Amino acid sequence: MINKTYLSAKPFVKWAGGKTQLLKDIKRALPSDFSEKKDSIYVEPFVGGGAVLFWILPQFPNIKKAIINDINPHLITTYRAVKEQPEKLIERLDIFQQEYLPLHEYERKNYYLNKRNIYNSSPLSEIETAALFIFLNRTCFNGLYRVNSKGEFNVPHGRYTNPKICDKATILADSQLLQKVEILCGDYTETITYATPNTLFYFDPPYKPLSKTSSFNSYVKEGFDDNEQIRLRDFCHYISEHKAHFILSNSDAKDKKGNDNFFDKIYQSFNIHRVMASRMINSNPNKRGKLSELIIRNYKIS
Ligand SMILES: C[S@@+](CC[C@H](N)C(=O)[O-])C[C@H]1O[C@@H](n2cnc3c(N)ncnc32)[C@H](O)[C@@H]1O
Repeated sequence: MINKTYLSAKPFVKWAGGKTQLLKDIKRALPSDFSEKKDSIYVEPFVGGGAVLFWILPQFPNIKKAIINDINPHLITTYRAVKEQPEKLIERLDIFQQEYLPLHEYERKNYYLNKRNIYNSSPLSEIETAALFIFLNRTCFNGLYRVNSKGEFNVPHGRYTNPKICDKATILADSQLLQKVEILCGDYTETITYATPNTLFYFDPPYKPLSKTSSFNSYVKEGFDDNEQIRLRDFCHYISEHKAHFILSNSDAKDKKGNDNFFDKIYQSFNIHRVMASRMINSNPNKRGKLSELIIRNYKIS
């Protein structure tokens, strides 16, 4: 049975490439017996904002355990704070909200830049990091997360009239849901030990950029180039040999350049399916809109 408190769980940050738009397609892509399988394990190695995580856990109580991972250490610190210290986090966010909202535009910008400096320069406690992470995410331009070559967060101030900096209900619901989630921080290959027949992996790696201006995949200073996409494909082969199921989504490289068969080639031994999705974060507003998205699986489509 679905737990009602869990249903208000949702991503506590906005995240580039967030998968809320794709949930219907991911639901259709699940193994046909997924809801019947006892003791399922769900693994999300590129969790980001966790749109799929916060949707799938309440829907499928048969998932006995979930494992999430991301290479962004501050994002993961924030997940841990939401899981382990939600009340303290809410307290800090409430202070930021009360200080920020009454300010005029110019003062808000200074307040934001000051918090961004603190976030980038000081050794901070887990709670402070998490509170600043959420504050910056809610008040920066488009909810982006982008770092420079030194790994410093460098997104400019956004212009929201009334941003919800302290979303108490969401943090409390997410915290409950995260109790059965193990939280890892590192490269996605850290999740390799969960490649078992009971496991479903959902991979949502940084996109292969469709054009130079759309390259919002600098979540981390290392980036994610074509060689990285191939390394991930090899990992998919490895977990398939260990009988785990996987779903992987990515941008359709073919979309803009009709002749780019990159994913069709590298994933040729798996099932590839194309769906339409809205892409909200693009530096150029004219280029936001419907694009096709790839859904790749290592099992038959029913
Ligand atoms: C497209 S986003 C995931 C978005 C997520 N599905 C959502 O709904 O918000 C890709 C994520 O992969 C992470 N990432 C990049 N390189 C990684 C790596 N080598 N291992 C694990 N995570 C990585 C980024 O920090 C980013 O959060």
